[in-house]
Amino acid sequence: MRLKTQLLIASVMVALISPLSAFAQPVAKGVWLGNEAGAAKTPPMGWNSWNAFRTEVDEDKVMGAAQALVDDGLAKLGYTYVNLDDGWWRKRRLTDGRMIVRTSIFPSADTPDGNTSFRPFTDRLHAMGLKAGLYTDVGRNACSQAFDLHSPNLPEGTAEERQVGLDGHVEQDINLYFGEWGFDYLKVDACGLADFAPDSKLVKDNGYIGLKPEIYRDAINRTDDASVQKRYARVAAALKAANPDQDYVFSLCDWGMADVRSWGKDVGSSWRTSSDITPNWSSMLHNYDSVAKRALYAGPGHWNDPDILFIGEGEFDAGHLTEARSHFSLWAMMSAPLLISYDLRKAPTVLLDIWRNADLIAVDQDPAGNQATIAYDSDDAQILVKTMADHRKAVALFNRTASPVTVTLLASHLKLRDDAPVELVDLWSKAKSEFTGQLAVKLAPHETQVFSASGSRELADGVYLSEIPGAINVADDGVKTPVPDPTIHRMIDPWAGTTSGSARPQYAGWGGAQADTTPYGQALQVAGQHYESGIGVLGNSLLQVKNTGGYSSFRATVGVDDSTQNRAHPVTFSVYADGKLVTKTPPMKFGDHPRDIVADIAGHKIIELVSASEAAANELPVVVTWGSARLEK
Ligand code: GLA
Repeated sequence: MRLKTQLLIASVMVALISPLSAFAQPVAKGVWLGNEAGAAKTPPMGWNSWNAFRTEVDEDKVMGAAQALVDDGLAKLGYTYVNLDDGWWRKRRLTDGRMIVRTSIFPSADTPDGNTSFRPFTDRLHAMGLKAGLYTDVGRNACSQAFDLHSPNLPEGTAEERQVGLDGHVEQDINLYFGEWGFDYLKVDACGLADFAPDSKLVKDNGYIGLKPEIYRDAINRTDDASVQKRYARVAAALKAANPDQDYVFSLCDWGMADVRSWGKDVGSSWRTSSDITPNWSSMLHNYDSVAKRALYAGPGHWNDPDILFIGEGEFDAGHLTEARSHFSLWAMMSAPLLISYDLRKAPTVLLDIWRNADLIAVDQDPAGNQATIAYDSDDAQILVKTMADHRKAVALFNRTASPVTVTLLASHLKLRDDAPVELVDLWSKAKSEFTGQLAVKLAPHETQVFSASGSRELADGVYLSEIPGAINVADDGVKTPVPDPTIHRMIDPWAGTTSGSARPQYAGWGGAQADTTPYGQALQVAGQHYESGIGVLGNSLLQVKNTGGYSSFRATVGVDDSTQNRAHPVTFSVYADGKLVTKTPPMKFGDHPRDIVADIAGHKIIELVSASEAAANELPVVVTWGSARLEK
């Protein structure tokens, strides 16, 4: 063969092989990448119209809720956002693209010039000490236009006039909603990117102008994650520009699709992680599970959102107080937005007393923003532990089943010493108690008991990273291909029963970074050595840690985790402080003894943990363990 031909063949082969063998090793950034824009330093609290009224919302109903927030003492406990969901719009005016309010249900928006304005409405809410929220869609059409076709309040007019979503109008709409109308919160749905395929029956029957889907609800690999992210990022930029005072909340609502679990934190104040909650236990479990193992992705300014509360209806009504309290306790432990969605004009005291549990609100709103991590996990019962800013713990003992169960709480679940007393305060009954070592607690069916706990910390002068997920930004979790999470409770589809296949896992998230377990839920272990505390993550990942506590050293014992399926590639572990390399291990293989790392981080603000392997993009990732990873004085 002639040399030229040989070279040509060789270069074609390189071109064919290299995309597969390329590996992306993350690089320390030296700057904090987690989103802190906006006003959600703690999870947003307030009221949302959707579960109470769907599209049959009107001004009297919303103002009734607002008045009740004030009169019933909810506003002063933090429930300040009054959020209008779907149903408020009449149409988009084609001459100038301005959105027009449906004044038949929001009469105060009627203006003599026909422009319509929500300003009088938001002025009234602001005068009551409240904040105002509005709803839109990131595509051209909204969810009600697909799922509430019998609603009396659907957008009206020509196909173009009924395009009420942001597509093609991002800056114009945001400036109207925030600049002119004075809203403080925006929920941005995504049905416009999922449900209006040009050749669909929906589009043909209703004369819509179709949009090629970017989100496929039943096939996550067909979804165009990058495009969805880009659209939401554009909204984020418009919100930033329209709110120089940063007083806004940006709530992403694409139900866990488009791999939002990995990038929502970089773009929005909160992001939905699952489909809509319905008032039944199974749906609540499903939505709770979709956030419960994502603690490392939430923190001040950016929160996992398992959806608005459904307390007050169905299996969470006044006849099901155990379930209603569990629902509330779990949302508080998860640092979830607390948005009541009930007709507050008729709320009985027993329900008000759930929303008004100031101790649980304090758990949700704790400024450290540490979402609870799971200290004990099973399909039957779980123990959730949340570290508060003052280093006390909140602990929830959760019975998922319809039978009584007994759980044994260990001091070590709380990362407290088992030879010293642990003091408990029950955050529902307010009863005080004490135990040393362990405590058996009997839980009624569906019951969640929540306690504040204090004792002697295992680390008297330091903190495990798994105790402070709110101070961690998972800049890159090493997940190369989004994989549906098989651990999320599979409910019977609330809308289609057993006639649909949608109980299959749909939400990507499997393999994400975890506190105290591997990314796939196994115990942390390197060459036979087990770690109760630590961070489990995939190779080729970058974790950022904020050193807000003035700690002077970072310590961990690291290695390739015994559970890894890919045993082929060694991993190097590096620690950076404010962008400068402080320490680095030699390459470590599966089975190698774990290595102790000590990094001097005194005076540094951002610590970055990089694990780098040469696993190619088409290979299984390597599972790595930062055992006992901790910050010390
Ligand atoms: C979607 C959202 C819900 C609600 C409705 C409104 O289903 O997920 O939270 O906003 O749309 O139509």
